[in-house]
Amino acid sequence: MAYALAVLASGRGSNLEAILRAVDEGRLDAEVRAVFSDREHARALDVAGSRGVRAVWVDPGAYGDKAGYERALLEGIRAVSPNCLVLAGYMRILSPRFVENAGCPIVNIHPSLLPAFAGLDAHGQALAAGVRFSGCTVHFVDEGVDQGPIIMQRVVPVAPDDTRETLAGRVLKEEHILLPEALDLMAKGRILREGRKAVILKEESH
Ligand code: GRF
Repeated sequence: MAYALAVLASGRGSNLEAILRAVDEGRLDAEVRAVFSDREHARALDVAGSRGVRAVWVDPGAYGDKAGYERALLEGIRAVSPNCLVLAGYMRILSPRFVENAGCPIVNIHPSLLPAFAGLDAHGQALAAGVRFSGCTVHFVDEGVDQGPIIMQRVVPVAPDDTRETLAGRVLKEEHILLPEALDLMAKGRILREGRKAVILKEESH
């Protein structure tokens, strides 16, 4: 049976599109079972719907508090029994309780070379720091923000005249390569979590 993914996304959904494309093209042996969003009009939900993937809006305003919202979200996610939950542009911080109870690994894509520039406005932070290289990171989600074990990264040079937008555009292209690659390794059982680190196992030779 194909490796089952559930995706959480708040916005545009270009990383979700990259995942679906990789599945179509046979670069990622997985199935996207459902996409969940905290935003009713997130483009990611349209992307899912147009591909026949279950698209679910879970309204954070409908549950009184964050714990109630997360319980509802978790219920929806558990109902599709994913092997992995992917945060692809999900703009809320998951509580440690959610992470503990997810029932599967959670991975996130972040547009910087973590541990540098965690949190919001990663590109603005990178430009302000004057770094020569930025990039993107796929990592396991733990109780910290953008802090879990790093699975894979791709590097992008920063140009002297880069703006947030130009840098974001070049990094995004790399995100679209990185996320399906990392998920493919997850699907193949080649990512081992060892304490604070993630280890990539060598491909088995046949
Ligand atoms: C990406 O830059 C991702 O790294 C960050 O949010 C953005 C989401 O873009 N976490 P999209 O919704 O996948 O197009």
